[in-house]
Amino acid sequence: MTPFVKAFFDEATFTVSYVVRDPNGTACAIIDSVLDFDNASGRTDTRSADKIIAYVRDEGLTVDWILESHVHADHLSAAPYIQEKTGGKIGIGDRITVVQDTFGKVFNEGTEFQRDGSQFDALFKEGDSFMVGQMRGDVLHTPGHTPACLTYVIGDAAFVGDTLFMPDFGTARCDFPGGSSETLYQSIQKILALPDETRVFVGHDYKAPGRDEYAWETTVGEQKALNIHVGQGKKIEDFVQMRDARDATLSMPRLILPSLQVNMRAGQMPPPDDQGDVFLKIPVNKL
Ligand SMILES: [Fe+2]
Repeated sequence: MTPFVKAFFDEATFTVSYVVRDPNGTACAIIDSVLDFDNASGRTDTRSADKIIAYVRDEGLTVDWILESHVHADHLSAAPYIQEKTGGKIGIGDRITVVQDTFGKVFNEGTEFQRDGSQFDALFKEGDSFMVGQMRGDVLHTPGHTPACLTYVIGDAAFVGDTLFMPDFGTARCDFPGGSSETLYQSIQKILALPDETRVFVGHDYKAPGRDEYAWETTVGEQKALNIHVGQGKKIEDFVQMRDARDATLSMPRLILPSLQVNMRAGQMPPPDDQGDVFLKIPVNKL
């Protein structure tokens, strides 16, 4: 089964969102949508999400699923906004509970913040499957970047989120709370065990030295041969040393504080105060 895949690139956060369509019908899934957010003013904007919604409407598609590969730290999810406009169920990995526990503490959330993943419509674990029209999607648990990261394999297409990036860029960072370079290496081996011709769609692209165009589609075969961090059978010790050294030089993503507070709630803002106003927190010296 070869689903039709339409990509939407958000240059503000280097995020790729996808609409995956059943080639023999009108069903689709939306993966890793973006709610635009201006950190300086605290304003949200739905420009990016509206492009996806317009595409879905123009093509006459039915949205079965609105999927998150993980709790993103670099952009806010537009899942609830899109769900309101198109329907569809919001799914994420069942280890979201670990992420909610970690960041529930970081943001000192009260007991009204449920840490059981109940904000989502579906929680997936390794080996689960789901349907997009007549297409089957299979779930791989691929932690390392975060504890809840999933790879969705739909037909011949693997949506790997933040695990592997394009071969010339390498892999995702592993230094967020709950991250582990050793775990990421093992997760990547699961992806590389898929058939060589499997199409790989990455969650972000930042270009790469010598490449001026954004890119997001590659294959398992190309990753095995060419990925600068894990290709050519790179050993786990070498990967871990490289990844940890590189992560130590990276600064926090610009939108990490708003992103985590919203995305751990399945893309919902924190509850409003008694005036109806919504606030996000800035924990000082915690991250
Ligand atoms: Fe991420």
